[in-house]
Amino acid sequence: MSYARTLRCRKCGREYPLGPVNLCDFCFSPLEVNYDYKSMAKDVSVEKITSGPSSIWRYRDLLPANDEVVDLGTGFTPLTLAANLGRELGLTQLYLKNDCLNPTYSFKDRAVSVAVTKAQEFGFTTLACASTGNLAASVAAHAAKAGLKAYVFLTSDVEPEKLVGIAVYNPTMVAVEGSYDQVNRLCGKIVEKYHWGFININLRPYYAEGSKTLGFEVAEQLGWRSPDCIVAPAASGLLFTRIYKGLEELSLLGLIGSVNTHMYLAQAAGCSPIVNAFQVGSQHVHPVRPNTIAKSIAIGNPADGYYALRVARQSGGGACAVTDEELVAGMKLLAQTEGIFAEAVGGVVIAGLKKLVASGMIKRDELTAVFLTGAGLKTQEAVADVVQPLLIQPTPESFEEVLGEQKINSPG
Ligand SMILES: Cc1ncc(COP(=O)(O)O)c(C=O)c1O
Ligand SMILES: [Zn+2]
Repeated sequence: MSYARTLRCRKCGREYPLGPVNLCDFCFSPLEVNYDYKSMAKDVSVEKITSGPSSIWRYRDLLPANDEVVDLGTGFTPLTLAANLGRELGLTQLYLKNDCLNPTYSFKDRAVSVAVTKAQEFGFTTLACASTGNLAASVAAHAAKAGLKAYVFLTSDVEPEKLVGIAVYNPTMVAVEGSYDQVNRLCGKIVEKYHWGFININLRPYYAEGSKTLGFEVAEQLGWRSPDCIVAPAASGLLFTRIYKGLEELSLLGLIGSVNTHMYLAQAAGCSPIVNAFQVGSQHVHPVRPNTIAKSIAIGNPADGYYALRVARQSGGGACAVTDEELVAGMKLLAQTEGIFAEAVGGVVIAGLKKLVASGMIKRDELTAVFLTGAGLKTQEAVADVVQPLLIQPTPESFEEVLGEQKINSPG
């Protein structure tokens, strides 16, 4: 039994029954799941959570699921102390939350596992989504596991490396010749006509809840406390707001102390509408036309941009943008100091972290948790120039000859 009671409008507070609906009829603002925290608090405890499964479903009491869950084994990914990268950047307590290690290699599995569980409860037989690539893979995989049909709508310029990892689960794949914002608008029209469970449209309130588990896990893995600083990427801005909500809920339930975490969001300079608004002190996020190789987060008109902006400001955090060149350097730095190959979005976060430390926003001894939300094999092209093997004949002489040449040619 779940403690979710209603859906509540984030703006006007009107309440709705728990169903497949994402916008308030009165003010068109997003709806979010509203819980009975009093009853929840009586039931949850550190002991209960830690004796649960090593997946997001250890936090089941804090999620909106009644029935059998659809689970691929998502979550409880490593949080590792990054001593080498920390030394390089000038941080003594840098932790990396490695969500590259989820079943379909991105954090989206968290959100989708919860949304598909609800889709089943609501009786949908077909799932769908608008995606920049990662969500499509996750939806297709969960549909396969749940025995449901799936339609995934993608931007036609999605990285080719992502395509097989979507198609292999056998969804109906629709490549749309347009931007993500156009794909999303199209899906908004399709959802009105077909009775499908659109993971990031009519099921969005539940999809949003899954991302809270990133906040839960980081706090648990740090020994039940919230970090001083968090750096996370933003596309629609939803993930960023939900990491914070996860921390706030743990605090509300008395599982951690008060949350004094500074929340910093990172975007690619070629698509940074939220950062732009933060920097000019505006409350309004003005849409932009994306132009970046970080395609997973190329959303020009972010649905939760306003709320992400609010979290960054209210938490005493910030926002920063990095160029494509900087993000590529960030991907390489992460791989070459910590042995983690994250996708272009990870490069954005690492390059953003570097800037935040260099500018003194994040201080040397602050405990900082950085979110790596997708795996590098999805965007290999971004760093393809690293492949420069020594070509030799199958003889020791050839190896030594080429090695000698390389030494002579290599600087230092
Ligand atoms: C790897 C990765 N990180 C972060 C995000 C940002 O998610 P959100 O739209 O919740 O801001 C996405 C979105 O697609 C993503 O694919
Ligand atoms: Zn409303």
